[in-house]
Amino acid sequence: MAAPETLSDIVTSFLDVVHDRLVDDRRGAVADYIPQLAEVDPELFGIALCGLNGRVYESGDTDVPFTIQSASKPFVYSLALDDRGLDAVHERVGAEPSGEAFNSVKLEAGTGRPPNPMVNAGAIVTTSLVDGASPERRFERILERLSAFAGRQLSVDEAVFASEQESGDRNRALAYLMRGAGSLTAPVGDTLDTYFRQCSILVTAHDIAVMGATLANGGVNPLTRRRVTSAETCQHVMTIMATCGMYDYAGEWLLRAGLPAKSGVAGGLVASSPGEFGLGLFSPRLDASGASVRAVVAAQRLANRFGLHVL
Ligand code: DON
Repeated sequence: MAAPETLSDIVTSFLDVVHDRLVDDRRGAVADYIPQLAEVDPELFGIALCGLNGRVYESGDTDVPFTIQSASKPFVYSLALDDRGLDAVHERVGAEPSGEAFNSVKLEAGTGRPPNPMVNAGAIVTTSLVDGASPERRFERILERLSAFAGRQLSVDEAVFASEQESGDRNRALAYLMRGAGSLTAPVGDTLDTYFRQCSILVTAHDIAVMGATLANGGVNPLTRRRVTSAETCQHVMTIMATCGMYDYAGEWLLRAGLPAKSGVAGGLVASSPGEFGLGLFSPRLDASGASVRAVVAAQRLANRFGLHVL
């Protein structure tokens, strides 16, 4: 007689089922506006779930590195909140879903504030609000923060960083607009250098599952047991992820997956279920809102099958 299945076997085999059913879904297209991102193997697909006991369940390509891109934004926002406080951060960046694409140039009339910290304009401002005596020190602190969330030392993909520098005129234009309006006070060049570097940090689906679980666990990394940030900061971060993390798909995402989440254009998607687990997904082909097609469907299937909706 076969040994009875453990909970771990059941979770892993369900991740395998979701993975296997979606692996033939080839909808969407790999991002190519950052030329280096177009070099990726579009077939890669990984799903990882990290419980608050530190156990990680995985299926597919969960150990393949990719650049974190916009999925860095919630974690850098956490650092800006810890450095400056909620009010000072939100004097400079709004907290409203924009209903616009991630690279929208729409700023608040009068103040020039970007709508929220999840769109590019808002993330450029939050990056500029991280403390540091020099741009190098500021980036070091960002890398330390993201590494603490992941529970291991992360590094930068220099080729993607160079490619972002070369192709980043829209972000530069946004930064100049915000500087003109007064919502960005730091120098454009240094701030964008730091922002492009943060987007070029390499992670795996396993890493972002742990990062999501650290948020879900009130700021204590479930693998290292180290406190990375406060429970209050995690609450703020997950709130903004829930309302703004998926850009112009944020409302429908919350309706269908019911979890705070953040996408990135390399194909990563991190979601957090407060008090329960973190989810890390990766597959490079994107939908119209810049989120991984397979990751979105996989997360929605998991959420519906296990009743994971937080609302
Ligand atoms: O700034 C950019 O355009 C990229 N480095 C990040 C954009 C991104 O990941 C949008 N999210 N889906």
